[in-house]
Amino acid sequence: MEEKNHTYRNSKKSKWKQFVFIFIVVMIIGFVRVPLLDFFSDEQAKPVVVEKNSASKDIVDGIHVRTGLIDDEGLLTVIGNCTACHSAQLITQNRMNKEQWDATIRWMQESQNLWDLGDNQEVIVNYLVKNYPVVSKGRRQNLSEIEWYNLTE
Ligand code: HEC
Repeated sequence: MEEKNHTYRNSKKSKWKQFVFIFIVVMIIGFVRVPLLDFFSDEQAKPVVVEKNSASKDIVDGIHVRTGLIDDEGLLTVIGNCTACHSAQLITQNRMNKEQWDATIRWMQESQNLWDLGDNQEVIVNYLVKNYPVVSKGRRQNLSEIEWYNLTE
């Protein structure tokens, strides 16, 4: 009885030892593998790419890159006040006259928590009317740059 118990305990112990041994080997391989691969690989460390901060001043072809707004007097005031809640696309895709821009601003103030713009309102509306005016669609535009040709018979 005692003998049996003894061998049983022995074999359990050695299984445990095997397990610990394998575990340690796996861990060692795990830790050594990465530095080893690094050491033997020819790959150069990649340079850290520091993204150019195109925060507020990049203008290309008269367009403010980040927002798509036209570069003109009042641009920074518009960016500061009009791009906080929605993208500037909402502005660039709209065409309005002064009354309509004023009304849109009033509507946002009444229902969308837009703050009082104070003196900036004039700057902003001037900018909007100048750069995003109504495009008349009622009548087709006059033809321009047409190459006329003579009819010959
Ligand atoms: C406090 C937040 C906020 C600010 C700041 C803000 N807007 Fe808006 N605006 C809104 C919300 C909300 C809408 C509705 C968006 C929607 O319909 O998805 C909106 C809609 C618009 C629209 C579309 C209106 C329509 O009839 O579809 C235009 C144009 C617009 N804003 C222009 C501006 C301009 C110009 C400014 C700067 C003076 C400005 N917004 C600043 C919240 C704001």
